[in-house]
Amino acid sequence: MSPPTILSIRRPDDWHVHLRDGPMLAACAVHTARQFARGIIMPNLVPPVTKAAEASAYRDRIRRAVPASLKFDPLMTCYLTDDADPVELVRGKSEGVWVAAKLYPAHATTNSAHGVTSMAQIAKALEAMEKAGMPLLVHGEVTDPEVDIFDREAVFLDKVLMPLLRHHQGLKVVLEHITTREGIGFVEAHPGRLGGTITPHHLSYNRNAIFKGGIRPHFYCLPIAKREKHRLALRRAATSGNPAFFLGTDTAPHTADSKECACGCAGVFNAPVAMQVYAQVFMEENALDKLEAFASLNGPRFYGLPINEERIILRAKPLAAPQRIDVPGGNQSIVVFRPDTPVEWSF
Ligand code: DOR
Ligand code: ZN
Repeated sequence: MSPPTILSIRRPDDWHVHLRDGPMLAACAVHTARQFARGIIMPNLVPPVTKAAEASAYRDRIRRAVPASLKFDPLMTCYLTDDADPVELVRGKSEGVWVAAKLYPAHATTNSAHGVTSMAQIAKALEAMEKAGMPLLVHGEVTDPEVDIFDREAVFLDKVLMPLLRHHQGLKVVLEHITTREGIGFVEAHPGRLGGTITPHHLSYNRNAIFKGGIRPHFYCLPIAKREKHRLALRRAATSGNPAFFLGTDTAPHTADSKECACGCAGVFNAPVAMQVYAQVFMEENALDKLEAFASLNGPRFYGLPINEERIILRAKPLAAPQRIDVPGGNQSIVVFRPDTPVEWSF
């Protein structure tokens, strides 16, 4: 049977988004809001979002950056530091300011300098979250420079995540932007407790793409893309229908200048093409019938939120998206992600 040429699914949500602030927010937010009803907003601003009042003010700025007609609901998160305050965490949750907290191991990635240096530092915060039913969102990489960059996710599972789950038996955890077969297996082994998000870019290319014909900074993100066998495991998991896996783009805009330089930033800006690329992957896997579960059902179920009633339409025609978008108030632009392989879906 030939694949459908039109696809109607419930409006999806993005369970992992970097919207930034100021002119970057003004440039980027609309692209996420056009596709998604809700977004879990990452708190790695400078300085990071650690207080409920800051998250609430940031949420207002996001709402102002998005046309009201798009009806986008930002779901805020708290950035965990070694000083994370259990009282503040629970208060922010009960006041409806944030829905989850984010663990960045210190120095793991962009703006993570204030992240957590050891799990013992946040034991009380995690206990409070466990009691409050507040999920922990994890950037799952160890930061030990002795550990090879391609092994940092797998080592994190054994060294950090396994003990963390043992110590906090009631804590719900999302392993964000999974990049390895081991990460997939780990989530599968903890049904009900663990969720996992998968990005469009990690489904589309393996680590060779970063070095094809030279260094290609727009394919560089963290966790870094791995070998082909890992990409295939991600594709199997995303298209399996397993409710533990759901959509999280990790769209992470940086200006072109800050990626095309001697020490370029990590992050792929995929917001304008996210659903198109996911649809392409699901079509290639003969699993378009599973796209709605991954994009629109599994995430809300994990977070205990209602599913969206509206629908979106995707059409089978070659991707039409800008190469780059401008940042207002200067000469900066952001390069939009595009896989090397064809994308035959439009939004
Ligand atoms: O590539 C990435 N970019 N990975 C992250 O974890 C953070 C993100 C960013 O904020 O730029
Ligand atoms: Zn991220």
